[in-house]
Amino acid sequence: MTPRKIIIDTDPGQDDAFAILFALGSPKELEVVGITTVGGNVPLRLTAINALKVVELAGRPDVPVFAGCPAPMVKPLMTAEYVHGETGLDGADLPEPVTPLQTEHGVNWMVRTIMEAEVGEITVCTLGPMTNLAMAMTMEPRIIPRIREVVLMGGGFFEGGNATPAAEFNIFVDPHAAHKVFASGVPVTMAGIDCTYTAQMTPEWLGELRATGSRAAIEAANLADFFRIYGSHKFPTEARPIHDACVTGYLLAPEIFEQRQCHVTVEISSPVTIGMTVVDWWHVTGQEKNCNVLRRIDPDPFFALMLERISALP
Ligand code: RIB
Ligand code: CA
Repeated sequence: MTPRKIIIDTDPGQDDAFAILFALGSPKELEVVGITTVGGNVPLRLTAINALKVVELAGRPDVPVFAGCPAPMVKPLMTAEYVHGETGLDGADLPEPVTPLQTEHGVNWMVRTIMEAEVGEITVCTLGPMTNLAMAMTMEPRIIPRIREVVLMGGGFFEGGNATPAAEFNIFVDPHAAHKVFASGVPVTMAGIDCTYTAQMTPEWLGELRATGSRAAIEAANLADFFRIYGSHKFPTEARPIHDACVTGYLLAPEIFEQRQCHVTVEISSPVTIGMTVVDWWHVTGQEKNCNVLRRIDPDPFFALMLERISALP
């Protein structure tokens, strides 16, 4: 089986780090051709450094990391240090990266990579605001029919939002980018908070991960311990949703997800609900079902697989 080629677009972010480690621990199934970073959880300067830290933690400094857009297409950047800490990767003591950031702009590299690849060869996984992908589609619309699938963490429907009552953070930060991607015609799979809230990472599982003993596993568990500090007002236990890792989980084991093809669009006009992913779960609009919406995950096989793959890293 030839590994599936993926671009990871990300704003690390502890949960982004889990998604990246999970992917890099699965080389038989996934080939991470490169990582593009975006302003999101923390400013771009930090998300770029953080992505370098994560590939070095995985023992994969060969995976090229690019800086993309520092801010959304229209709105000013909104960050989330209140969740991820001032560095964006608080919790782990990771050294300053020695691997250099690529000099090419992440959006230019994304366009060039997709145009140089075979049609349908590249899957784009977005784990943060979708500014880079939307800008790439704007710069070179010919990439749209060449992308195999966009698998994104973002949005929500019955769960509402986590940045506002209506909007999830990744979509809320850059709703215009998200609107463009959902409307582009590219095949989209959406892991919103309805899905990620069923992927609750428990202290017990983190103990198992830490006990596997690899440096990547131990530092990932340290990242998670910080990540779990936020949210006690929202979640009834010490478990927390490991949002972005659901994207990697879907690529590796789609069968463990409840999913449904729906029409999805993004609100970009209302000051009250801007960034809301409007998911036509009951098909009442009759509009084209442009998105595979993930609603629930089976947590047992998901966490077993993630433990196996992250603990396989050095
Ligand atoms: O709402 C959760 C999303 O926002 C995750 O991608 C997390 O990393 C933050 O970017
Ligand atoms: Ca993220």
